[in-house]
Amino acid sequence: MKKILLSCVSVVFAVLPLAAQVPVTKTDPETELAMIFTISFIIFVIATLMYIIGVMNANVDPIADLYFRIKNYIVPPPSEVAPDVGHIYDDIRELDNRIPPWFNYLFGITVIFAFVYMTDYHVLGISKLSTDEYLEEVVAANLQKKIMLASGGSINENALVALKDAESLKEGGETFQKFCISCHGPQAGGIVGPNLTDEYWIHGGGIKNVYNTIKKGVPGKGMISWELVFSQKQIQNIGSYVLSLQGSNPIGGKSPEGQKYIEPVVTVKDSAKTL
Ligand code: HEC
Repeated sequence: MKKILLSCVSVVFAVLPLAAQVPVTKTDPETELAMIFTISFIIFVIATLMYIIGVMNANVDPIADLYFRIKNYIVPPPSEVAPDVGHIYDDIRELDNRIPPWFNYLFGITVIFAFVYMTDYHVLGISKLSTDEYLEEVVAANLQKKIMLASGGSINENALVALKDAESLKEGGETFQKFCISCHGPQAGGIVGPNLTDEYWIHGGGIKNVYNTIKKGVPGKGMISWELVFSQKQIQNIGSYVLSLQGSNPIGGKSPEGQKYIEPVVTVKDSAKTL
């Protein structure tokens, strides 16, 4: 008996370091699988040894015992036939009731869930661990910060101009494709939101008006405010991109809404004043 216990312990201590040495990385599914199998094997060995010890101690037929145990797991116990352990205190008898099957089923479900969870999160990596989610957010935030810093972040809103350089338009276009096309369409021809490629504007054309509409949104009309999402420079880029689409007349574009916008003629003197 002692020997069996000892060998059991030595097996566990021989295999555990093996499992511990395997580094846990999501990038290597084979390592993960190897670890799961090693741990499962250890559990299997321990359970088997404990079972053998139990059978030896109780001096019962192992086959009959196994059958009895399996039946115990599946069939609900008849009430009040549990063996009396012979203890009576204050007229209360202690019965050796078996574990109710619902509890065993629950246990079985947790084991299955553990395997599904392990495979999902650690082996296949379909769902992201919270650490990875966090790191992704940090990377995204750093990128955002980089863009803000590189672009100067803030700009003088009173002296807005529609940018024409390829880089700003490209950046604006990429942002538009990511955040705006669900309502305005990939060519800005309009879906829920209006067509942005014609000369007609509900809230005014020209970079200043478009910039303001994007920044503040149109609360209550489905156009959200982007002020907290983008830097001023980014909004300028998006607005410039939108205006660069003027007259592109995309297929399936919505019919004009709002007023035809005519850019006010700014004399040199006036623009000097606004600056
Ligand atoms: C959830 C849908 C939705 C999204 C996303 C959305 N918009 Fe809009 N947008 C609208 C709606 C609806 C209107 C019309 C508001 C109104 O009727 O006053 C609008 C209006 C506008 C206008 C004013 C048009 C005009 O005629 O004056 C501009 C400019 C605009 N959106 C740009 C954008 C940009 C740029 C983005 C992405 C950063 C964007 N929108 C994202 C729904 C959306």
